[in-house]
Amino acid sequence: MANQNIRNFSIIAHIDHGKSTIADRLIERTGTLTKREMEDQVLDSMDIERERGITIKSQTVRLHYKASDGEEYELNLIDTPGHVDFTYEVSRSLAACEGALLVVDAAQGVEAQTLANVYMALENDLEIIPVINKIDLPSADPERVKKEIEDVIGLDTSNAIECSAKTGQGIDEILEAIVTDIPAPEGDAAAPLRALIFDSYFDSYKGVIAHIRVKEGRIKKGQRLKMMATGKVFEVTDVGCFRPQPVDLGTLAAGEVGFVAGSLKDVRDVRVGDTITTAEKGAAEPLPGYRGVNPMVYCGLYPVESSDYDNLKDALEKLQLNDAALVFEPETSVALGFGFRCGFLGLLHMDVVQERLEREYHLKLITTAPTVIYHVYKTDGTMLKVSNPSELPPPTEIEHIEEPYVKATVIVPSDYVGAVMEISQDKRGEFKGMDYLDTNRVMITYHIPLNEIIFDYFDRLKSATRGYASLDYELADYKESKLVKVDILLNGDPVDALSTIVHKDRAASRGRQLAAKLKEIIPQQMFEIPIQAAIGSKVIARENVRARRKDVLAKCYGGDISRKRKLLEKQKEGKKRMKAVGSVEVPQEAFMAILKID
Ligand code: GTP
Repeated sequence: MANQNIRNFSIIAHIDHGKSTIADRLIERTGTLTKREMEDQVLDSMDIERERGITIKSQTVRLHYKASDGEEYELNLIDTPGHVDFTYEVSRSLAACEGALLVVDAAQGVEAQTLANVYMALENDLEIIPVINKIDLPSADPERVKKEIEDVIGLDTSNAIECSAKTGQGIDEILEAIVTDIPAPEGDAAAPLRALIFDSYFDSYKGVIAHIRVKEGRIKKGQRLKMMATGKVFEVTDVGCFRPQPVDLGTLAAGEVGFVAGSLKDVRDVRVGDTITTAEKGAAEPLPGYRGVNPMVYCGLYPVESSDYDNLKDALEKLQLNDAALVFEPETSVALGFGFRCGFLGLLHMDVVQERLEREYHLKLITTAPTVIYHVYKTDGTMLKVSNPSELPPPTEIEHIEEPYVKATVIVPSDYVGAVMEISQDKRGEFKGMDYLDTNRVMITYHIPLNEIIFDYFDRLKSATRGYASLDYELADYKESKLVKVDILLNGDPVDALSTIVHKDRAASRGRQLAAKLKEIIPQQMFEIPIQAAIGSKVIARENVRARRKDVLAKCYGGDISRKRKLLEKQKEGKKRMKAVGSVEVPQEAFMAILKID
């Protein structure tokens, strides 16, 4: 199809404002799928989604639409992931488009992720079509929301579309606006090939499949292509589009969106943001904007049963097949034995990986508290990146430590400004600014250590604002902080997996709180267990877990052996998630205790 009849677009929205529902309506209205297929497709996509995990965050689909001007158009809808962990993937998906539908809930208005996404769309020079969704709701106030979009984002809303994905109202107008307002793609099909990768997934038959936007040139089956960042060369076996199943077309030209597959076995060869060109006579320069994946949050994963170590390794390798952002390396802990230190894009990514290891691979794991990456400048002039508190060098070798800060944007009703400021201040936040979106809603920005965000910041915001706060954040920079390591000793022995890095001014209170929390969590055992918190050799807090008075077996009167066995069995059951650390049985929860103190 000629480029003037192609439109490439995304839908951007705050979570729950109706992105998926609108996408479904567009698919249905263009007859891309019948109602029956639609139902199958929904099931299918959930399957695939599950199989692919969260690396496959976006679904791309090609729609055919006959517009009111009588012409046939090819509309490529590129879905974007909806979570702050995947901001970079969103930016690359947007870079594959010429326009975006900006969906805003008519009852809720502009939220933190709406803004973050719009700014990214504007950076990519996209034409933005404002869509006010859910106008069927009694609380809908489209005029207020339009004014908010004008005031806050500075977008003209005179052509905004009022729609209800629920009733179908406004869907035809959206399709027409895509055709009339979003520019057709440009790009010379005769130039050397440059195609942008905006997503990828692993298929057990075809290998790695890259989602691509061809910017210049043409891809053909059988061609030898090269990834410009990784240098990987491969031969094209399949090239085509998603409808929404992959359909082999044999070729894709400048302006088009689709997929390419070839002799690619490793997702790490297929990086989001990389440029594909031909192996011979390729493009001189890659497309702008490529960035490697950088984990932001790390934690230790240890099997409860040490015999599961190899199973854990296999499982991580399998997950990595489909998740280039997951990194791991073997790690040994004095307390927990052999395990892995794993890096993730953010907390959601971490949760999903942990859940999959436990549910799909049936592994019982001990997970240590998540940490950020600290830059430790040593007195010998070197810099060490530390993602495991127990690896922090002794204070005498440290010149200073820097930690990552994020720029956090919070949007709340004005009644809650005080609460947001109090929590942010408490989280070591630096106030950066406050703007009224309208008479009733306020946008507040803070610079806050990422470390404090991963410790329950959003949970506290939500509960203090009765769920009204929306939050978005992006990495700002590294800044010097006075940080120290607090160690925990159980029964006199330091437990490396319980060490944490905290701000000096809070170290003493955190140490006390942590010792108190551990006292609640660690069950009584046959002997008394002292719990100490220490900075260096200085003990800053002490608690005791008193010895248990009665032994379970005492009830057995010594005689009945089968009853005794049963009791022992039961006790073992209860210990499932216990790890023997020295002579002390420590439950999984203890390693997360630091996250549970206020
Ligand atoms: P995530 O997938 O979580 O990012 O959300 P989303 O933006 O894709 O929103 P989704 O389409 O899942 O819709 C969120 C909720 O709003 C669902 O319960 C929808 O049924 C509902 N919803 C979507 N559009 C409308 C609408 O026009 N009117 C009403 N009343 N509800 C809607």
